[in-house]
Amino acid sequence: MSITGSRLVLCAVLAGLSGLGFSNSGVKDLTTFPKGADPVSGREIYVNTCIRCHGIDGKGALGIKLVPSPADLTSPVVQDRLDGTLFRRIHEGKPNTAMGAWKHSLSDEEIWDVLAYVRTLGVERGEQP
Ligand code: HEC
Repeated sequence: MSITGSRLVLCAVLAGLSGLGFSNSGVKDLTTFPKGADPVSGREIYVNTCIRCHGIDGKGALGIKLVPSPADLTSPVVQDRLDGTLFRRIHEGKPNTAMGAWKHSLSDEEIWDVLAYVRTLGVERGEQP
């Protein structure tokens, strides 16, 4: 294989590793729920940190005026995303929106807990008109 070829392969492997966060000698797997993610303690975190924008039911807090407005956490758009995608969204936030990066104030474990709670908000979808 040419030098250029093997460099390309190496780059692809590195990009894959960092992009997907596969668990690999010390690199934590941040793509799937860890054992013991707890929606009950997640609810507490949600009430303390997320409710002021996302509202008690996840559909958005009353009277909040943000552009773009907080995502409706019960919507299929959000609920159909992969666990790892939502984890990253909460961890890193979304640039140029009010959705901040929570990695500074929440541990990975706490983010999984709060995400476990967010998943429970989607269970009732379809019941609303
Ligand atoms: C200051 C207001 C604010 C707070 C507090 C906040 N969010 Fe958000 N959040 C937003 C906004 C605004 C968006 C929509 C961004 C966009 O348009 O995609 C959003 C989007 C999201 C999304 C959807 C991302 C996607 O894939 O579309 C998730 C999940 C989410 N927030 C979870 C949380 C959780 C969990 C917390 C608490 C730890 C939290 N948010 C706290 C404002 C907030």
